[in-house]
Amino acid sequence: MTQSATEPTQPDQPQRGASPGARSQQNDMSAREPILATSGVSKTFPGVKALQRVDFRLFPGEVHTLMGQNGAGKSTLINVLTGVLAPDAGTIRLGGEVVAFASPQEAEAAGVRTLYQEVNLCPNLSVAENIFAGRQPRRFGAIDWPDIKRRAQEALARLDVSLDVTRSLDAYPIAVQQMVAIARALSVDARVLILDEPTSSLDDSEVAQLFKILRHLKRSGIAILFVTHFIEQTYAISDRITVMRNGEREGEYLARDLSADQLVAKMVGHERMSARLREAAHEEQAADDLQEVAHDHPEEATATQPFIELRGVGRRGTLQPVDLEVHAGQILGLAGLLGSGRTETARLLFGADRADSGTILVEGRPVRLRTPHDAVRHGIGYCAEDRKKEGIVAELSIRENIMLALQARRGWWRKISRQRARELADMWIERLGIKASDAEQPIALLSGGNQQKALLARWLATDPKLLILDEPTRGIDVAAKFDIMDRLLALCANGLSILFISSEISEVLRVSHRVAVLRDRRKIAEVAGKASNEDNIYRLIAGSGE
Ligand SMILES: Nc1ncnc2c1ncn2[C@@H]1O[C@H](COP(=O)(O)OP(=O)(O)OP(=O)(O)O)[C@@H](O)[C@H]1O
Ligand SMILES: [Mg+2]
Repeated sequence: MTQSATEPTQPDQPQRGASPGARSQQNDMSAREPILATSGVSKTFPGVKALQRVDFRLFPGEVHTLMGQNGAGKSTLINVLTGVLAPDAGTIRLGGEVVAFASPQEAEAAGVRTLYQEVNLCPNLSVAENIFAGRQPRRFGAIDWPDIKRRAQEALARLDVSLDVTRSLDAYPIAVQQMVAIARALSVDARVLILDEPTSSLDDSEVAQLFKILRHLKRSGIAILFVTHFIEQTYAISDRITVMRNGEREGEYLARDLSADQLVAKMVGHERMSARLREAAHEEQAADDLQEVAHDHPEEATATQPFIELRGVGRRGTLQPVDLEVHAGQILGLAGLLGSGRTETARLLFGADRADSGTILVEGRPVRLRTPHDAVRHGIGYCAEDRKKEGIVAELSIRENIMLALQARRGWWRKISRQRARELADMWIERLGIKASDAEQPIALLSGGNQQKALLARWLATDPKLLILDEPTRGIDVAAKFDIMDRLLALCANGLSILFISSEISEVLRVSHRVAVLRDRRKIAEVAGKASNEDNIYRLIAGSGE
């Protein structure tokens, strides 16, 4: 049952098995007018009905979260609201007036500030310029640099971030870049603030800081539209939740009236709600309250051969020499805060950076990994954290993107036939549930989460022996996430080794056979079995553990 035809000013019809929530929603709504609303908004792309007669409303002083699986239409709705896309049908109202923004700049001028899903900052400009690009404070007609610098520092200080704002943005890791984008979105007065997956690469403390600010903004009457795939975050911050499914609005709920498993069931459709997923939803929501989690993480490391061994491998200024082994058929998790050396370790393993000390052994034999090409030849794949910079090639098709690593490994002179490429791409699109109308479409047209899946498909298609996954589930919806992790575990049972990096400790624990903990660019511990519980790992990360 969908409710997309309901008028935005009317309360929702009670859901199947009407909950007491229907009444409290009604009370809650009659009081105020929405600041931003759509009625009957539709948007069709070739082969995809991205939005179908969507009614949506956002009230002042609330945090309203859009939830839905990858490709459900969340970003498209935001793009329509903010003038990036023109809807095919329907109307948008801001403060009761019908509006049709021709560009995001027009929306901004009307007080609608947006942080888009794919952070579009300028990597080669300074942090300060990025925060104020296009609206630099001027004095006597000239750009006032000292003022920009001071104000950029202030904007970041509100997020508890202090960095050199004169350095270029690409000098910083992706999570910091995301904080800069958030600082930019927060740096002017707005009536409406829209954040499309702002937390996908932030760690817990950064998320907490952002939420503190959002609560503050909310109290001052700003309306906040938020998109996330983290259920725990949804419940931590939301007053209201709109669920999108296949381009339709499934329903609108008060967060307190909707349990996590009801929410997931509405996202995926009741008929697809497996016991496993229900369990997962509970686990996500409960993550905060649990003291000691009895994870059903994989069996403790048994005596298998290491596929790869690092002995004293390091790089001056980047990573202190570490010893590390990834065993055949196992997952080694890397836990640590941002900047602890996780990505640096991955880059050394992949030959993206060269080690200046130590030895690397693959299947017992010393090897040189001077370039990614060397690594690929040894059966190593690296799914990088920044899908835009090191990942997808926007102009190429989904098929070409998936085939890229395999083709590179075979050598470009041994071209994979078109027929074979199509078969392989189709197989991975199907296996990972990539929502695409056609494998020949440019990959840029996929939703964020589906691009991420295509990146994973690229490396799985090479049939690697070791796969390095740096934040592989960034932006992937809950249902798909559990599906993908199960699939990876099954591949491990067939001999694949994985180095798994994620800022979500619970996720690292769920899949890893062993977990190496990093702090301040060095490995400080390795835990397995009973010792790998969240509490213990947090203690180690904080420096108070064993
Ligand atoms: N410019 C475009 N051209 C063609 N198809 C598009 C375009 N933009 C989006 N789509 C398609 O519209 C659908 C909805 O995409 P959208 O980006 O809104 O999803 P989403 O809910 O934000 O997903 P995610 O959680 O993965 O970010 C997808 O099938 C996507 O491939
Ligand atoms: Mg999106």
